[in-house]
Amino acid sequence: MDFFLDSTDLEEIKRLNNLGIIDGLTTNPSLIYKAKTPFEKLIKNICSEIKGPVSVETVAESSSKMINQGVRLSKMAKNIVVKLPMTWEGIKACVELSKININTNVTLCFSTSQAILAAKAGATYVSPFIGRLDDANLDGVQLIREIKQIYSNFNYETKILAASIRTKNHVSQSAIAGADVATIPPKVFDTLVNHNLTDQGLDIFNSDWNKSGQKIL
Ligand code: G3P
Repeated sequence: MDFFLDSTDLEEIKRLNNLGIIDGLTTNPSLIYKAKTPFEKLIKNICSEIKGPVSVETVAESSSKMINQGVRLSKMAKNIVVKLPMTWEGIKACVELSKININTNVTLCFSTSQAILAAKAGATYVSPFIGRLDDANLDGVQLIREIKQIYSNFNYETKILAASIRTKNHVSQSAIAGADVATIPPKVFDTLVNHNLTDQGLDIFNSDWNKSGQKIL
């Protein structure tokens, strides 16, 4: 499974990218708003830090405007993926951008029929929002399972990018359900390594080592 960061916080992005296990990044207009940095500068800075795919969203209503914005965004850096909304206009734009080899991510996916549309439009990624489904008392991970089944039935190449991840359990469950990517906010990412038995085990090992009087080298 690929790990993307879902963030526009450059300090957090650099801190976590230092681990060496970040494969890409996603943004959305709300995250851009939070960053309070000029858009182009922010995206270029992110793209010079993260070498893998970086999703940046269009904000137009018509497919023609989305296509224009998508082409412009794709020129900002070679690793840009153009994010398009799950609307008929977004699907049309996805078809056209795919034809000219611009990578796309169809976002705000909440159903299997929407995921089929993204695949048929040639999207590079589809983003099911699992946390928002859970918020609505539905089962976000179940949607990933169903999309995975459909994509395998038809050999669709679109990758499933689990988004709106709120907990480390969402990450594991998405992996079990077969998501290709999890895009993870930094505060959730930080929790992935935690387990109280690891902490307890380490305390015991350290204390026994100190009592042993041994040295490494
Ligand atoms: O980037 C899209 C997605 O991850 C948003 O998450 O927490 O706002 O539902 P959230």
